[in-house]
Order: sequence, then structure tokens, then C-alpha cells
Amino acid sequence: MDIAILGAGNVGRALAARLAGHRLTFGVRDPQDPKHAATATLGALASPEDAVRAASLVVVALPWRETERALAALGPALAGKVVVDATNPIRADFSGLELGHDDSGAERLQRLLPQARVVKAFNTTGAENMADPAYPGGRVTMLIAGDDPAATATVRALADEMGFDARVAGPLALARQLEQFAWLWIHLAFKAGFGRAFAFRIEAR
Ligand SMILES: NC(=O)c1ccc[n+]([C@@H]2O[C@H](COP(=O)([O-])OP(=O)(O)OC[C@H]3O[C@@H](n4cnc5c(N)ncnc54)[C@H](OP(=O)(O)O)[C@@H]3O)[C@@H](O)[C@H]2O)c1
Repeated sequence: MDIAILGAGNVGRALAARLAGHRLTFGVRDPQDPKHAATATLGALASPEDAVRAASLVVVALPWRETERALAALGPALAGKVVVDATNPIRADFSGLELGHDDSGAERLQRLLPQARVVKAFNTTGAENMADPAYPGGRVTMLIAGDDPAATATVRALADEMGFDARVAGPLALARQLEQFAWLWIHLAFKAGFGRAFAFRIEAR
């Protein structure tokens, strides 16, 4: 699959490391910037516009505060494409989320990009777990939400391929809960002393 990853930070690079079998292009502000040298070993570097043009699936791994501005500029190029929203609307003072209960970052993105097929995924665990989702107890869970069944199925297959136990939680409105679930992971990691080397896993019997 042709995949564009917007953002070459912790999340963008961690996901790319698990998606090596695909044609990956990072959409970055300055593809010539020498700071991207290590990223270039994971995928091609291009402007966000060029990266998105060639892709059928676009992963958004940008700071939430930058996301709407960056994506609005790409709107027409995203029509019909699967847009995977890995962001979390974290408050600048790190006290919680800016949205919740009656809206989510993913729903805002879908309203901004009505012709794109937005799927929430890869937001509920740390980047280290994206780079390596295997734990001694088994695969860790990746919850997914989206309104387009084909798009959510595509993202689920991708997450399974990456080594997660991927589950479709429900429609895109479930992103409200997935973003809060991400905040729980963040709280446990940074405020409750768990550290970053843990993940959530659904067990069934
Ligand atoms: N880190 C985690 O463990 C984790 C886990 C789950 C979800 N998330 C969410 O995933 C998102 C990314 O997190 P991260 O930790 O990967 O952040 P990060 O390491 O700060 O990386 C963000 C990337 O976005 C780029 N960027 C910023 N504005 C841009 C724009 N307008 N156009 C193109 N690129 C732009 C930055 O480029 P420059 O370096 O040039 O500024 C950087 O490469 C956030 O919304 C975060 O809440 C993070």
C-alpha cells in the first residue's frame, strides 16, 4: 500500500518501523532538512502535499495543535482517502484533554475533511509500543474507531500486521472514549509512576 505519514516524530517513525513492507512517504515541512537523515532510512521524504498525492492511506502523526491547519491545506488531495488520526488533543498545560464527552479530535478532523474517511487509531498507547507491540502476555490491543467499514477494516488489518491485537470499537464518535483512554495511558505513564513500558491488552474467555 502507498502510505503517507504526516509527521516524522516519535509516532511517525515508530509506525514506519512496523510498516516496512509498504511504500512509505513522510510528509514533512522541509524534506531537505538534515535532521531527517535517520527518517530517510524508513521511507521517502516529501512535502505533505506530495506525500499525500501518492498515498491511499494517510497517517496523521502531528501535534494536535498543528493538525487542523496542516490538514486544511491538504483537503482536496485527501478526498476518498483513509486518514488515520493518531493525535490526541492534549492541553498545553498537560492537565488533560481539550475535548471530550461531546466531541473528539477525530470528529473535528472528519468535519474538516468531509470527503476523507477518517479512522481513529494508534493514539491509545506509547510510541515504544507501536515500534514493538509484543509483550510477554501476548499482543497488546489497538482500538480503532471509524464510520466507514472498509476504511476501519483496512486500518485493522494494518494494525494486526504490525503486531497488535486490533479491534474495531465502533463508529468515529467512539474516538471520544479512545482519546480519553489515551489520556489514561498518559496519566499512568507520567503521573502515576508506571513509566512508558506498559500497554493495555483485552483478555477474553
Ligand atoms: N509520543 C507518543 O507516545 C504518542 C502516542 C500516541 C499518540 N501520540 C500523538 O501523536 C501525535 C504526534 O506525537 P509525537 O510524539 O510523534 O510528536 P513529535 O515527536 O513532536 O512529532 C511531531 C512531528 O510533527 C511535525 N510537524 C509539526 N507541525 C507540522 C506541520 N504543520 N506540517 C508537517 N509536520 C509538522 C514535527 O516536525 P518538526 O520536528 O519539524 O517540528 C514532528 O516531526 C501527537 O498528537 C500525540 O499526542 C503520541
